[in-house]
Amino acid sequence: MALRMIRVLGDPILEKECKPVKAVNGRTKELIQDMFDTMYDANGVGIAAPQVGVLKRIFVIDAGEEDGGAYVCINPEVTPIGEETQLEDEACLSVPGKAGKVQRHMRIHLRAFDENMQEYELDAEGILARAIEHENDHLSGIIYTEKVEGELQDVDYEEEDYD
Ligand code: NI
Repeated sequence: MALRMIRVLGDPILEKECKPVKAVNGRTKELIQDMFDTMYDANGVGIAAPQVGVLKRIFVIDAGEEDGGAYVCINPEVTPIGEETQLEDEACLSVPGKAGKVQRHMRIHLRAFDENMQEYELDAEGILARAIEHENDHLSGIIYTEKVEGELQDVDYEEEDYD
């Protein structure tokens, strides 16, 4: 298990566009494993590569067993399904101690590659759809704080999940 340093708001790497992954090699697999380790250690439900300082189009998510457990998303393409939206609290490992309400699509379609560069597709809704949109934004240098409706709130670390 290896933990990587999580970049926090203000770090310019979080504002950069990530590059597509051409092939998965040993280093990529190590990165993915470290991202899971870092995410679980910080009680997060998702983490994107730029959050650990790597400008590649990769994020990992685990929104719990009911939502299918762990997903590796390489070169993801996210498309909304329908018009329905959800306005819920969101947080981020790169913005510790804060949360705020963000409008997201209720349902999305994900097309991505896994850690073996096998393509897969997935329809997601609710928290999983929210987490995927949040992480996908990181790959374009977008932090949820740009999208918060109303005030950013102070929250207790111990009781909240982070993306
Ligand atoms: Ni985040």
